[in-house]
Amino acid sequence: QATYQPYRTAYHFQPPKNWMNDPNGPMYHKGLYHLFYQYNPYGAVWGNITWAHSVSYDLVNWVHIDHAISPSQPSDINGCWSGSTTILPGEKPTILYTGIGTKNRQVQNLAMPKNLSDPLLREWIKSPYNPLMTPIDGIDPDFFRDPTTAWQGPDKIWRVIVGSQINGHGTAILYRSKDFVNWTRSDNPLHSSVKTEMWECPDFFPVGISSTNGVDTSSQDKYTKHVLKASFNHHDYYILGSYMPEKDKFSVETDFMDSTGMDLRYDYGKFYASKTFFDSAMKRRILWGWINESDSESDDIKKGWSGLQSGRLKKSRNYGPRTVSFHAKKLKSGSTIEVPGITASQADVEVSFELLNLEEAELMDPSWTDPQLLCSQKKASVRGKLGPFGLLVFATKDLTEQTAIYFRIFRRKDKYIVLMCSDQSRSSVREGLDKTTYGAFIDMDPRHENITLRSLIDHSIVESFGGEGRACITARVYPKLAIHKQAYLFAFNHGTSHVKISRLNAWTMENAQIVSTKKRRKPH
Ligand code: FRU
Repeated sequence: QATYQPYRTAYHFQPPKNWMNDPNGPMYHKGLYHLFYQYNPYGAVWGNITWAHSVSYDLVNWVHIDHAISPSQPSDINGCWSGSTTILPGEKPTILYTGIGTKNRQVQNLAMPKNLSDPLLREWIKSPYNPLMTPIDGIDPDFFRDPTTAWQGPDKIWRVIVGSQINGHGTAILYRSKDFVNWTRSDNPLHSSVKTEMWECPDFFPVGISSTNGVDTSSQDKYTKHVLKASFNHHDYYILGSYMPEKDKFSVETDFMDSTGMDLRYDYGKFYASKTFFDSAMKRRILWGWINESDSESDDIKKGWSGLQSGRLKKSRNYGPRTVSFHAKKLKSGSTIEVPGITASQADVEVSFELLNLEEAELMDPSWTDPQLLCSQKKASVRGKLGPFGLLVFATKDLTEQTAIYFRIFRRKDKYIVLMCSDQSRSSVREGLDKTTYGAFIDMDPRHENITLRSLIDHSIVESFGGEGRACITARVYPKLAIHKQAYLFAFNHGTSHVKISRLNAWTMENAQIVSTKKRRKPH
């Protein structure tokens, strides 16, 4: 592995080396958080897919332990692809995962811990009944994968969905089982869409409508709605609806890609194949997602690794001393002010902007419906009226390199529209990187609240949460100059209107401890 590693992260989850993609089977079990993930033990490119396994007490510091499942039998000899864990009564975790069998057929398999009294759940055994679900009766063997966490209805029957594409349409095939081993396909899928193709890594879970606590995957009552998430077109899209377990009917409120133009994504930058789990200790639902690279495959081979995981939870706390804070600071038109005193390559920044002259907002053209396109036309260097204002992260002192996360406010009739952008076009003087600009509209009214931005900066990733997290944008960048001590953080206002920073807090983030206890086991 290369020794020069300016892009390895300090507090995001990474294996010591090699390729990683989807988070698999995250769970909380007897005081420990487990994370499994799609991993190539032999290199920094996708292949030889195995379930690697790490455990943590706090979701920040991790211990890598032995791989949980590796290709070994006809039902998974060509790969152990994505899947989920379900905790069966008696605190018995199980894994349902996709095996790539002989002839590269996708099937669903079951695995269980070898020894439930091992707190780390190091060894997993595959069910002798594998495969449990096979691509028959019109299921395409290339499009049948990624089983979700199962949930139990009031009738005690388990349900699980598997991602698929039927007649070219994204589908969540539903299966039911009494014993978790014998599964019967339901006549109707849980949901499908003619507007999308293959659904990878579906996720289906309840959310409380009157509480901010998370709820267990099998919960369902008049105080819950259900979220269905599917991964396609390089993004994680979700819809909301009500689920009735009696008939396994999911009635949606707005559908994927429907005419309302509502395009709900977990993140408008990089974030894919994500999965949630219920943390019963803290009564919260936690989301993990795979953040891929935006450099080239040969860069990944040189670095010796590819892929990060991002964990998201409601109201996470900041660790370490607060290093900088400003209050009520005017951010004049055309100004750039440094946020000094922190390690700007691994920081957590929170800022809140107060708009002084909302009536100066530019008029919104009705044809501007695509926020990403709008951000790529109105990059950070394009002056406006109310905006662009925001943060410059991973910036060199002279601003040659900079990643800009900013807002622009528009007016249309008597409504204000808040656009959030993450502009990577000047993130590195290096060529050959994907520097796509990302954008999202934030569902908020700037007349009634200040616009907040929180950015988590970590060497080659910046995750930005706008309007109290109503829109998230994650970007990967590889600055050539703005690394280590040469990385700076600024607030800027490139609009003609002044704005006010009502408050700004920034923290240097500590390094997470990520250690390996993997021992070499004899192959059996
Ligand atoms: C999503 C995905 C899944 C599949 C896995 C293979 O990134 O393509 O559909 O199970 O990755 O690694």
